[in-house]
Order: sequence, then C-alpha cells, then structure tokens
Amino acid sequence: MTHPFDPTTLPRAVVTGGAGFVGSSLCERLLADGWRVLALDNLCTGRRANVAHLLADPRFELRVADVCDPMTVDGPVAAVLQFASPASPFDYLALPVETLRTGAIGTLNALELAKAKGARFLLASTSEIYGDPLRHPQTEDYLGNVSCTGPRSVYDEAKRYAEAATMAYQRTHGVDTRIIRIFNTYGPRMKPRDGRVVTAFVVQSLLQEPLTVFGDGRQTRSFCDVDDLVEGIVRVLARGDHMPYNLGNPSEFTIAELVSEVEKLLGPQQVTYLPLPQDDPTRRCPDISRARRDLDWQPTVALAQGLVRTIDGLRQTLAAAQ
Ligand SMILES: NC(=O)c1ccc[n+]([C@@H]2O[C@H](COP(=O)([O-])OP(=O)(O)OC[C@H]3O[C@@H](n4cnc5c(N)ncnc54)[C@H](O)[C@@H]3O)[C@@H](O)[C@H]2O)c1
Repeated sequence: MTHPFDPTTLPRAVVTGGAGFVGSSLCERLLADGWRVLALDNLCTGRRANVAHLLADPRFELRVADVCDPMTVDGPVAAVLQFASPASPFDYLALPVETLRTGAIGTLNALELAKAKGARFLLASTSEIYGDPLRHPQTEDYLGNVSCTGPRSVYDEAKRYAEAATMAYQRTHGVDTRIIRIFNTYGPRMKPRDGRVVTAFVVQSLLQEPLTVFGDGRQTRSFCDVDDLVEGIVRVLARGDHMPYNLGNPSEFTIAELVSEVEKLLGPQQVTYLPLPQDDPTRRCPDISRARRDLDWQPTVALAQGLVRTIDGLRQTLAAAQ
C-alpha cells in the first residue's frame, strides 16, 4: 500500500525576504531540493507576483510580516536564511531607517529564531561591506574602506552590523551560522526601476530611452547570474563553515562594455553621461578562491547568456505594468 505524501516530514526552511528578487529564486531552488519553505516578507521592496507560481505548492507558504517584529514559527525549522533587506540603491536610499532596522533588529530576530529551533542560519551580506575598496580583487579577509556617514552607509553599515551579530551568535550561543557576501547579481524578476545598472540599461533600452552612464564608464563591476548565485548559496548552506564567503562573478566588465553587451542584444543605444554618485565604488571584483576551494563553486553563466533571460523577464514585467 502506498502512503499519501506528507509534506510535513520534509525539512523546513524559513527564508526572510523570500518574495524578493534573489529570495524568490532561492525558495524555488529549496523546494526543488526537497525542502518545505516559509517565505517571510513585508513586501516593502519585494512582490507577491515573484512567488505567485509557488503558492499552489503545499510545501510553500508566504507570510506577509516584518522581520523586525518578533517571529514565531510553529514546529521544527532546519534552516533560517536571512535575505530581508532593501537591497538596490534606489530602495535603500528611499528606506534608510527601515534598512538599518532590518539589518540590525531583523537579523537579531532571525538569529533568535535559529537559536530557538536549533536551526542552521545563513546571512545574505553584501560586497558593499568592502565600501570603495582599496584592494582588488577583494578577498574575504579585506576589512574594507567604508564611509559610516555617507548616504550609502545605511546599507553598508546595516550589513556590517548583521555580520557582527551573526558571528556573536555563533561564538556565544553556538548557532551554526553561515555568511555570504553577494556581489552584483542580475536575472529575471529584478524590479524595472531599481537603480541597478543592468536593469537600468535594459529598461532604458526597451523603452527607447538613452542609457544613463555615471562617470566616464570606465568603472568596473562584476555581474553574477542569479542561478549561479543560488547554486553557491545552497553549497554554502550545506557544506560551508561560519566564516564569510564571497559569491559573485570574478569576470570584470567596465560599464562601457556592459553598454556594448546590451547593444549586441538590443541594437545601438544613445548614452547620457552623468556625474558619479557620492561613495560609488570605482571598482568591485570578488576573489572567489575560498568558494572554489571549499565548495567547488564558480559561476558558469556568461553575461551574454544571462542577459537574454533578464531582458525577457523585464520585458514581461513592463508589459504586465501597462
Ligand atoms: N541582488 C544583489 O545583487 C545583491 C547583492 C548583495 C546583497 N544582496 C542581498 O540579498 C538579499 C536580497 O536582495 P534582492 O536583490 O533580492 O533585493 P529585493 O529587494 O528584491 O529583496 C529583498 C526582500 O526583503 C524584503 N524585506 C525588506 N525589509 C524587510 C523586513 N523588514 N521584513 C520582511 N521583509 C523585508 C523585501 O520586501 C524584499 O522582498 C538582500 O539581503 C540583499 O542585501 C543582493
């Protein structure tokens, strides 16, 4: 006799920020790997539409709640993944105090949940903790060059606090923690006007507006496809240790080269040049030796390939908004 499928026997993960760009892809992947998933999100920068396709799955639940409020979750939890935070410059500059609160109080609440449940904890930190780095590429032991008073400090310092809190719970309370430092990631489900360069160029191009380049276009960024990132996240969760891992694509592109990549896919573009914003790093590139060595992880999706999916996703989002 076959028994009816009982999803409650599967390990359960709580993903804060699960309705965001990265969080929603992570929820998808965890479900595919056999987890039950509770996505907890206040939808301040995320969208219900990002997880609408998961809602019919009995193993998935979306709870609209603020991670800054104490979290109660019934039953066992095997992993808490703290992804809640406004993340694009447009969002965290519009929500500066919320960003600080989420990085600080939200992370403490998520750590308390992990401690109470004996769950593994993973913090989504950022390359922004390196500020405007003076060393290239950045290894995890680089301490950074960060302004604690500039406009971007609300995000950078919130994440630095969140890393400190995570290490304190690991040292003092024995919580089994992980920290990942995510470098620029792109892919479907990014918001059309989020202030990130990939989305900006694709949306401007689709709307036949000039592409806005800040500075002279010689500053570099590395762009990681979201599927590559999610593969790195699940490897850190399963096999990593408690010290931070850089997760990003070490292939550097200048902003001018990104313009060329967009032109290859969407045709010739007009470009408008504006001054560089305050604190905008001129160069940012991950050293991923640690993730390569410990986790056998490295990005596999080429920018040209990932851009095609991103363009499709943003085209659909723009069409749905009309
Ligand atoms: N996308 C990147 O390139 C990148 C780079 C570095 C770090 N990160 C980190 O990855 C995580 C996800 O980023 P993203 O790009 O998907 O951004 P996103 O804005 O799409 O997702 C963040 C999610 O967190 C939710 N959220 C914010 N504050 C909350 C709160 N107080 N309570 C509950 N939910 C809250 C938002 O509604 C949103 O759904 C963030 O922690 C971000 O700092 C992302």
